[in-house]
Amino acid sequence: MTTPAYGQLIDGNALSARLRADVASRALALKARGVTPGLAVILVGDDPASAVYVRNKVKACLDTGVHSVFEKYDASLTQDALLARIAALNTDPSVHGILVQMPLPKHINPHQVIEAIATAKDVDGFATLSAGELMTGQAGFRPCTPYGCMKLIESTGLDLRGKHAVVIGRSNTVGKPMALLLLQANATVTVCHSATLDIGHHTRQADVIVAAVGKRNVLTADMVKPGAVVIDVGMNRNPEGKLCGDVDFAGVKEVASFITPVPGGVGPMTITMLLVNTLEAAERAA
Ligand code: GUN
Repeated sequence: MTTPAYGQLIDGNALSARLRADVASRALALKARGVTPGLAVILVGDDPASAVYVRNKVKACLDTGVHSVFEKYDASLTQDALLARIAALNTDPSVHGILVQMPLPKHINPHQVIEAIATAKDVDGFATLSAGELMTGQAGFRPCTPYGCMKLIESTGLDLRGKHAVVIGRSNTVGKPMALLLLQANATVTVCHSATLDIGHHTRQADVIVAAVGKRNVLTADMVKPGAVVIDVGMNRNPEGKLCGDVDFAGVKEVASFITPVPGGVGPMTITMLLVNTLEAAERAA
């Protein structure tokens, strides 16, 4: 019998680099056919974290040969003005994907904005139609973070069929679509959330755990079955100000077979899957 190796890191930077190289070659192939893939990125207001995310998205486009149109607006932009801008981008043939960075200023209804984006350009996969396509197993854009988590799990070689997957968190952007993607891959799926009585009871039975809560130490070593694959979506700061995830990394890596670090795990994959979705949108349009 071979002893299983514990605590192998799933390198999100390395996987991202491989997937981005593929995006770059697909972008070149499209350009040879006269189509430059294009992504419009809209930022409203001055949220510093959003500014960093958006800058990273625009830079990733530049690095992979995707044309980006970056539009920054003052926080006072009206909802009508934003909707008019989206309507124009919906019919702009040089734009294949549209991303409106969240959160938006309080006076703008994010649902109305998301629903205004043409489904064919909804590369965030946040709109109701895209969510419905995922739920019913039809082709469509998958939200980038859970889509990236699926690629990270795949990279371990684990076949999800018949495995028990536990998702901690039920957000529309990560937890819920994550559960549906795992279900589509034939896993048995449990979703834990803030009203779950004993999260550890569920996670201790899991072959795969995805933690997506936004709180430190949601998952500790005593909650993990030896050999489980652990994906950490969290992006938090510890009391020393250091970036950390939802998982007690030092403890859990002694028990898990594979685990994503923070930073360098899920983070880079979110932008990578945005590029993948944008290429997909451009290829469909071409
Ligand atoms: N804000 C934080 N993450 C995201 C994301 O993936 N997409 C958008 N549009 N806004 C975000």
